[in-house]
Amino acid sequence: MNTLTKLALGLMGQLKPQPAAGDAAATMALPPPSQGGGLPLMNALWLRQSQREFSSEPLAGQPLADLLWAAAGINRPELGGRTAPTAMNAQEVQLYVALPQGLFLYDPQAHALQMAAASDVRRVTGYQDFVDLAALDLIYVADHSRMKLVPAAQREAYAYAAAGAMSQNVYLYCASARLATVVRAWFDRDALARAMGLGTDQQLLLAQTVGLLQKPA
Ligand SMILES: Cc1cc2nc3c(=O)[nH]c(=O)nc-3n(C[C@H](O)[C@H](O)[C@H](O)COP(=O)(O)O)c2cc1C
Repeated sequence: MNTLTKLALGLMGQLKPQPAAGDAAATMALPPPSQGGGLPLMNALWLRQSQREFSSEPLAGQPLADLLWAAAGINRPELGGRTAPTAMNAQEVQLYVALPQGLFLYDPQAHALQMAAASDVRRVTGYQDFVDLAALDLIYVADHSRMKLVPAAQREAYAYAAAGAMSQNVYLYCASARLATVVRAWFDRDALARAMGLGTDQQLLLAQTVGLLQKPA
């Protein structure tokens, strides 16, 4: 769907998800994250960039698992430590994944996807047309109920900082795995919160499209 149509539907409160493709299970297991491989960090930094042309091919299981782990995974199981920092280790940023089969919440402890809505919300995750058909859109959501120890005036800023760190992990993973990605803030917040069924403690922060690079025609 093009940007003008999305803007018009958004104004009318009619920007809505599509039916999910197929019958996805409530829990989707993921292969364990890779322990090695990928490009050296300096090579990945040289390649990091935003891209806005995506193939509609899905990601295979291992790249999907590695991508989610890079964003929000546990890298120190004895402490429950994550791959990205959070103020006072509040771990307040939830990672949702919009796939054609449904909307899922990444569970870092189980390293699995839990279904959050049985609909394809990809097109509601941004005004730009490529978000509709790329393999997936990540959605970063602050859970304010996890930030009770952070002064109220700082909660939003800290959550955005944490989401920024997670999104950079995704950029570096994508650079290493030769995937395309772009982090995004231009979306209809009301429409997306409705489509995701978010609660009052949950605040939308950023979205990030990830997919295979579009092959030249
Ligand atoms: C907070 C934030 C919001 C952004 N929002 C969008 C967006 O809505 N759509 C988009 O296409 N790019 C978005 N971008 C990507 C920037 O346009 C991009 O990072 C910038 O042009 C620099 O390009 P580079 O990432 O290739 O270095 C956003 C980036 C940040 C950090």
